[in-house]
Amino acid sequence: MTISQAQQDIILKLDKLDLTNPQLEADILLSYILKKPREWLLAHPEFKVNSLQIINYKLKIRRRLKGESLAYILGHKYFYGYKFIVNKHVLVPRPETEMMVDIAREQRTKNKEQTIFVDVGTGSGCIIIALAKKLKYGKFIAVDISKKALKVAKENARLHSLENKISFLHGNLLSPIINNKSITNHQSPITICANLPYLTPIQLKNSPSIQAEPKNALVGGFDGLKYYRELFKQLKLLPNKNITVLCEIDPSQSKAISKLIKEKLPECKFEIKKDLRGLERLVILKK
Ligand SMILES: C[S@@+](CC[C@H](N)C(=O)[O-])C[C@H]1O[C@@H](n2cnc3c(N)ncnc32)[C@H](O)[C@@H]1O
Repeated sequence: MTISQAQQDIILKLDKLDLTNPQLEADILLSYILKKPREWLLAHPEFKVNSLQIINYKLKIRRRLKGESLAYILGHKYFYGYKFIVNKHVLVPRPETEMMVDIAREQRTKNKEQTIFVDVGTGSGCIIIALAKKLKYGKFIAVDISKKALKVAKENARLHSLENKISFLHGNLLSPIINNKSITNHQSPITICANLPYLTPIQLKNSPSIQAEPKNALVGGFDGLKYYRELFKQLKLLPNKNITVLCEIDPSQSKAISKLIKEKLPECKFEIKKDLRGLERLVILKK
């Protein structure tokens, strides 16, 4: 079988999944199995795929047809141009979250005064690692309640040679920070990145494609805002001035989260940014 025949075979097999871009998925899968870049596949459509490679892709398609995401099957996902190891203990990084990294980068101070970046609910570590890769100066901290997720995040930090630049802390939202004098006594600006679980149980039930992902990374109570409610409470306990909080939301939550901020943090200014699809996605809150 040639590469081009294998691509057609994969596309046909993936037909049941109703994917937006089956060709892309076929290419990513084949490129992984043949250990060649996608461009190489395009340039060598007549190259022969051996029988072991055919068995390998068929096994992976079987898992894919059972609803597992391609990222879990391959064990990695690209985010902000960097490769991240993923497994069933972490959420697969989403392209819409890249906007949070863009906005967080804009918050750094122009002089060398160190901004403190805190990634609450770090998962694979994709946000804090992308920031630490891009920014020369800054203090980088990541928190997660899941020890298994923190293990993956640390592995990713090692993969990008950042294990000495990022502190990984275990705990509930900001609690490891609130009790840390080296942060609360600091005069530097703080930028908190929070992509916390924000789906409702009904949204989760209606999304077959995300069933293999960890529930504790997806669902945020009955209205999806449980963790943001708690985060805003904790924010009041952080004595620092000049804090920016970035929260990713589901577009359907923009009214509810605006109401919540007005009620719980009336002294804060905020705006909600739209993502590339024009959907309200990111709250930028200034304390
Ligand atoms: C939606 S995932 C986001 C992961 C990653 N930041 C990303 O953007 O791909 C939410 C993460 O928050 C973590 N989490 C859930 N509850 C938490 C809590 N109370 N404190 C800290 N982290 C929490 C989960 O373990 C999960 O890794």
